[in-house]
Amino acid sequence: MNRLSGKKVVITGAASGIGRAAATLMVAEGAQVLIADLDQDAAEKAAADIDGSGSGGRAIGMAVDVMNEEAVAAMIDRAVTEFGGIDVLLNHVGGSNPRKDLDLLRLDLDEWDRTLALNARSTVVASQLALPHMIAAGGGSIINTVSVGGLTGDTLQCAYGAAKAAVIRLTQYIATQYGKQGIRCNAVAPGAIMTPALRDNVPADVIADIRRHNALDMIGDPEDIGWAMVYLASDESRYMSGQTLVLDGGLTAQSPIAASRRVLLDR
Ligand SMILES: NC(=O)c1ccc[n+]([C@@H]2O[C@H](COP(=O)([O-])OP(=O)(O)OC[C@H]3O[C@@H](n4cnc5c(N)ncnc54)[C@H](O)[C@@H]3O)[C@@H](O)[C@H]2O)c1
Repeated sequence: MNRLSGKKVVITGAASGIGRAAATLMVAEGAQVLIADLDQDAAEKAAADIDGSGSGGRAIGMAVDVMNEEAVAAMIDRAVTEFGGIDVLLNHVGGSNPRKDLDLLRLDLDEWDRTLALNARSTVVASQLALPHMIAAGGGSIINTVSVGGLTGDTLQCAYGAAKAAVIRLTQYIATQYGKQGIRCNAVAPGAIMTPALRDNVPADVIADIRRHNALDMIGDPEDIGWAMVYLASDESRYMSGQTLVLDGGLTAQSPIAASRRVLLDR
């Protein structure tokens, strides 16, 4: 109920999916949250829908394109003006176009550049702008959304995987370079999560195949990631920095042949 009382939070890409779940849970834990999203109407609607009564938390919505440095600067300024500072920055926007981000020989180079900018450069820019405020206040927590795609190779989406891997390493560098000034930086790596994007873009048989490969017999919900973000935003995680928290139903914990072994053992 009050794990984040008084915390001032900025979340990019928070009008939908995991980011919205994180914003909802954080407000319920007493945080003030700036929902920054490309889609202004959706950001404002999400902020209006999130109920802070009872927790003392609140949400405000704002249009921001994380690819635009001036817009990101305006986002940080708005949080500082509206909340009086920033304790938590959640760099959540990311992704790639699966029709252009293919295997290396078929990779569209413009999509490579766009994907690195959307996932990694945007995280650098927002962190550069938020850090001085956090350091002046004595500390803060930066949380970067990555993916299991940044931990291993895969058949497609090599730009996405490389960009998320860059953010995983960037997370360690931020933790290293500003830890003495009270800054913690951690990443959250979801496996497949049942968001509108997954439901609308990934065929049901592919989702079933991911579930078959997970150790747990389920596909996660946005809140499964949102709760980890609440933890990383809170002082409960005060001794954790530079880490990547993997929430993937056990997918990457297993031997790569575990799923086929299960089939063989069932025979
Ligand atoms: N959903 C999954 O299965 C999954 C798995 C692993 C990692 N992730 C990561 O989670 C993040 C987003 O996932 P989600 O499921 O919450 O997605 P989502 O599609 O539900 O929401 C993404 C939000 O980001 C906003 N957005 C897109 N481009 C933007 C930009 N340039 N500037 C500002 N806002 C922008 C969209 O308007 C949307 O509201 C990404 O970093 C993605 O790589 C998701």
